Amino acid sequence: MRLLGELEVLLAQALEKIHAQRDTLALEQYRVELLGKKGQLTAILRSMGALSPDERPVVGQRANEVRDALTAALGERSLLLGEEELSRRLLLESIDVTMPGKVRYLGHKHPLNRIIEEITNIFLRLGFSVADGPEVETEYYNFEALNVPKDHPARDMQDSFYLTNGLVLRTQTSPVQVRSMEKMSPHCPVRIISPGKVYRRDDDATHSPMFQQVEGLAIDRGINLGHLKATLLFFAREMFGAEREIRLRPSYFPFTEPSAEVDVSCGSCNGSGCQVCKHTGWIEILGAGLVHPNVLRQSGYDPEEVSGFAFGMGVERIAMLKYRVEDLRHFFVGDMRFLRQF
Ligand code: DAH
Repeated sequence: MRLLGELEVLLAQALEKIHAQRDTLALEQYRVELLGKKGQLTAILRSMGALSPDERPVVGQRANEVRDALTAALGERSLLLGEEELSRRLLLESIDVTMPGKVRYLGHKHPLNRIIEEITNIFLRLGFSVADGPEVETEYYNFEALNVPKDHPARDMQDSFYLTNGLVLRTQTSPVQVRSMEKMSPHCPVRIISPGKVYRRDDDATHSPMFQQVEGLAIDRGINLGHLKATLLFFAREMFGAEREIRLRPSYFPFTEPSAEVDVSCGSCNGSGCQVCKHTGWIEILGAGLVHPNVLRQSGYDPEEVSGFAFGMGVERIAMLKYRVEDLRHFFVGDMRFLRQF
C-alpha cells in the first residue's frame, strides 16, 4: 500500500526535522507545513478518498497515529525551545540589584546665603539680633535721616535708582539703623545686624547693580571705639581665621563720626604683602564708625545720654575673599559648574 509507505516516510522525516528546529517561530512554521490545511499530512489524508473501503480504515488508523505522534513531538519540542528562549531572555533582561542607583542632584544653599548665615551666627553669639527693612525705601531713611541732606555732595557717593514720590531703591542697609533706633528710642539699648539687598547704578567685575550688605548697630550708654574694634576683631577672626588682625583707617561717612575703613590682615601672605592684598598686607572689608550725634537725635536718642557704633559690610566682597572668587558676577549668573563647588 503506497499511502502507508508514504506515511512512514513522512513520520520518520518529520520527527527528524522537528528535532532540527532551533526556535519556536521556525517550529511553528514547520507545524503548519506538516499539519496545516495545505500541509503534507493533510494532503495524504485527502488522497485517502481514492482508497478501497477495506484499505481506508487501515490507512486512516495509521494516519491518526502518525498525526498524534507528530503533534506530541511538536509539543515537546515547543516546550523545550520555549524554556530555552525564556532563560536566554531572563539572562539578558535581568536587573542587577547590586548596581548603584541614579543619584539626583538635590541642590543646596547659595554661597552668598551661606556667608550671610555665617556672618549672622557670629553676631547672634555676641547678643545681636536680626532686623529687617524695606528694599524700596524713602529718600528720608536712605539719606536725610542718615545725615545726608538733599543736594549734599555725599549723595554722589552712591549712584541711586530713584523712583517717584520720594522713593528710592535703597543704596545701603544703613536706613535699617534709623528704623531700629526709632523703635527703641529714647532710652532702650540696641544691638542689631541687618542683612539685605541694596541697589546702585554700578556694573563691572567688582560691582553689581544689586548686591548685599550686612549692617550692624549697637546703641547704649558709654559705647566707644574700643567696643567697635573688639567686636569687629572677633568677627574677623571667626570669619577668616584666629590669626587675623584688623586695623581702622580714618575715613568719612556722613552718618558716623569718627568714621573708619576697616581692613583685615591678608590671609594669603599673613600680612607680608602679596598679589591678593596688592602688596599692602591688608584687605578692606567694611566701613564703620561711631554713630553721628545728628543721626542719634534724628532717631529720638539724646547724644548726651547714649552713644553707639555702626558698621556696614558687603556680603559679596566677604564671599570673594573667603572663597577666593575673582569676578563678583559668578555669584549671580546661576552657572551650576560654579555653584556646585560650594
Ligand atoms: N552704608 C555704607 C556704604 O554702603 C557702609 C557703612 C559705613 C555702614 C559706615 C555703616 C558705617 O554703618 O558706620 O558704603
